[in-house]
Amino acid sequence: MDTGEGVGWPLLALDRRPTLVTQRLTLEPPVATRDMAEFVAAANDPEVVRWLARVPHPYTPRDAAYFFAIVAQAEFVFLMRRRDTGVLVGSMGLKPRGDDTAELGYWLARAQWRLGFATEAARALVDHAFTGLRLAQLTAAVAVENQASLRVLQKVGFVEVGRSTRSVLSLGGDAPHIELALAATTQSGGPSPRPAD
Ligand SMILES: CC(C)(COP(=O)(O)OP(=O)(O)OC[C@H]1O[C@@H](n2cnc3c(N)ncnc32)[C@H](O)[C@@H]1OP(=O)(O)O)[C@@H](O)C(=O)NCCC(=O)NCCS
Repeated sequence: MDTGEGVGWPLLALDRRPTLVTQRLTLEPPVATRDMAEFVAAANDPEVVRWLARVPHPYTPRDAAYFFAIVAQAEFVFLMRRRDTGVLVGSMGLKPRGDDTAELGYWLARAQWRLGFATEAARALVDHAFTGLRLAQLTAAVAVENQASLRVLQKVGFVEVGRSTRSVLSLGGDAPHIELALAATTQSGGPSPRPAD
């Protein structure tokens, strides 16, 4: 985890993370006692973590304990669940990158891929970032080979702003990445999340 950046809005907002509700999903802050086992089962999949910077494989309860205790307390993390079954869909969050910027990141359990869930959740979180948290810009980085994630980001309105090399933990090395950004003023829109009842 980076240090020394983004100490403004997260400190004010982390304790007040809302539940976001979309047509088919809820996005809620993680609760270790409730979510841990399902979280580990979903994340412990080499296909899920193939292009992720910070998620190791195999993924153990010890890794998840760190995530719930440290990462989820310092970053704007939400767990996605299906409203119809309650099943865990995955994790999506905003990593602070300064007072008015955050980086969007996410992964979904493999059984939940290709159902439009990543796009649906990303639209809700982007909308919350700009209208609720009043951030000015969101960034994202995707491995060049990760066409599925690139498509999600494009559908939500992100545009390429450069190229980079980033580390990918499960690869044990670097991979070429596309850097993307979305400014509040150019947000493409989409269904707004409504507060939970
Ligand atoms: C990337 C990921 C989040 C996509 O989630 P998803 O819920 O399947 O995505 P959606 O269903 O919202 O699909 C969004 C678009 O991507 C396309 N897409 C989805 N999977 C795809 C794939 N494997 N190859 C190509 N396109 C794909 C969809 O067709 C859709 O585009 P369309 O509307 O033009 O048809 C999911 O595959 C995942 O968790 N991967 C592992 C973790 C990861 O890579 N995280 C992102 C790191 S930057």
